[in-house]
Amino acid sequence: MNKQELCNVAITATDKSYSPYSGCKVGAALLSADGQVFTGCNIENASFSPTICAERTAFAKAVSEGVTKFSAIAIAAKRGGKLSTFTPCGVCRQVMSEFCDADFKVLVVTGENTFEEYTLAELLPASFKLD
Ligand code: THU
Repeated sequence: MNKQELCNVAITATDKSYSPYSGCKVGAALLSADGQVFTGCNIENASFSPTICAERTAFAKAVSEGVTKFSAIAIAAKRGGKLSTFTPCGVCRQVMSEFCDADFKVLVVTGENTFEEYTLAELLPASFKLD
């Protein structure tokens, strides 16, 4: 799967978002090292703090299926039905750093056929890890 295809899967995953409070529909597509794709969406809660971001939903699905090595994630978001650029929150960056190397690719969807590309090292320099 190429990068644009991974972004397309993330855009489609926004349809599953449960976001009655923010109205932000976020989708993620996580590519494992062996080529599997795990999707995720944000799942909000009336109590707010239990809300889980789309990225962490995707990681939870993958890790709970025994997959722990990854090469890329794509993230898409829609507000009012239109694509909006969402870079991952700090908590999600920390979760990425638990399972991913510094060169893990983070693709942030900016339009139907456009995306920005970062490495995890760019998004979370000097990250905390236990050796
Ligand atoms: N959200 C994500 O799913 N991923 C991000 O990277 C940033 C924020 C969600 C959480 C919440 O449901 C909504 O977007 C607004 O913050």
